[in-house]
Amino acid sequence: MRPGLVVVPDARALARRAAERIVELTRAAVAERGHCAVALAGGSTPRATYEVLGTSALGAAVPWAAISWYFGDERAVPADHPESNYRSARETLFADRPEAFARVRRMAADAADLERAARDYAQLLPDPLDLLLLGIGEDGHTASLFPGSAAACERSARVVVVTGPKPPNPRLTVTPPVIETAREILVLVSGAGKAEALVGALEGPLDVTAVPAQLARRGTWIVDREAASRLSASGQLP
Ligand code: 6PG
Repeated sequence: MRPGLVVVPDARALARRAAERIVELTRAAVAERGHCAVALAGGSTPRATYEVLGTSALGAAVPWAAISWYFGDERAVPADHPESNYRSARETLFADRPEAFARVRRMAADAADLERAARDYAQLLPDPLDLLLLGIGEDGHTASLFPGSAAACERSARVVVVTGPKPPNPRLTVTPPVIETAREILVLVSGAGKAEALVGALEGPLDVTAVPAQLARRGTWIVDREAASRLSASGQLP
């Protein structure tokens, strides 16, 4: 099997496996450095993983007191809006953990001065991150780095403002240098709708502007069987 690729039967198994991996990686980071900086993925796919960590016994193994939490991207909506990645994390991962929630740093994507909000977040975002969680879109985007966008080839700013094909817009997103320097990357991919994008991300000709998800190739990819359905046999089979 392709190193770094973990294929699991379905979305439920993906959530469990991803939660276990997050426990392993955060504990290892804290054991080595005394603390851990994690950037969370947005969208719907990671919610089940956050729920496992937020509500199951497995969550007790997370070194909550030594972790600071950030976001890889955020939509320009208020913190309590249904489309807010911050709200999604609050309702799942931090549902019963107010002390841990106090260590969450939200991206103020609904700020009046978004450029300023991007600069401010870049200031507080640890460099490097210990763990960056990501998803991918059907078009091959990751975080809010969309195909063909200037942000997908940004080399200096660590957080930028973008407007992309996936609403709500605008958004704040981390940039390629943040992905490239993260100590660990975990990418979660579920469903047949992502199969083509996954081939482009893992097996396609290298072109990160066309397929920004390729920026995370060196990471650990936990994907379900439906999402993996179009990967080359050599990519899937042990
Ligand atoms: C966002 C995300 C985005 C997401 C993909 C997949 O805020 O929209 O960070 O990059 O990971 O679009 O989204 P789904 O998991 O909902 O398919």
